[in-house]
Amino acid sequence: MQSIPLDRANRFLEPGPIVLVTTIDGGKPNIMTMGFHMMVQHDPPLVGCVIGPWDHSYSALRNSGECVIAIPTVDLARTVVDIGNCSGATVDKFQAFGLTPLPARTVSPPLIGECLANLECRVSDIRLVETHNLFILEVVAISTDPERLERRTLHHRGDGSFVIGGKTVDLRDRMVKWRHLQD
Ligand SMILES: Cc1cc2nc3c(=O)[nH]c(=O)nc-3n(C[C@H](O)[C@H](O)[C@H](O)COP(=O)(O)O)c2cc1C
Repeated sequence: MQSIPLDRANRFLEPGPIVLVTTIDGGKPNIMTMGFHMMVQHDPPLVGCVIGPWDHSYSALRNSGECVIAIPTVDLARTVVDIGNCSGATVDKFQAFGLTPLPARTVSPPLIGECLANLECRVSDIRLVETHNLFILEVVAISTDPERLERRTLHHRGDGSFVIGGKTVDLRDRMVKWRHLQD
């Protein structure tokens, strides 16, 4: 086994799909890219998200307490990277990237029409924001497009390269302890 520098831990552990986060800043919608997130509870659904003060989105989230986590698919790969390489302080990202803001059901920030799913969130716990920029968000509504053909998500490898979601292995019959999690 070869030793790997500690700052590469995320390249092995970074969870889930890369996501887009929308916020409202003084009436203006903004979008950022986020890879550092994890589910922390099923019911009500809580998600831990690292959003740092270097992001324009940080103050919007702290001030409003609301955001939308939108799940892009492979067709938006370049847009996802570009959104994470410019600031809402100077760029209207919905306009610049040709994305469609749709009204959310329960929060002010918009859904992204071009995404596979949109999770509306309210900040539930900020105790770890000061030390780790870690917001605990409660998911309060979810919208998805069941008709959408492109469903392959992007998974960040931590260096600007991405794994594309591929084949599914269905092992639901072995989940004997967790039947209640299945439909
Ligand atoms: C692939 C990728 C993943 C990123 N993940 C995060 C993250 O998890 N947390 C974070 O604070 N910033 C993350 N960023 C950086 C923000 O998206 C970036 O700072 C962005 O410009 C913030 O936009 P804003 O200033 O309009 O809020 C990521 C960027 C990229 C390209």
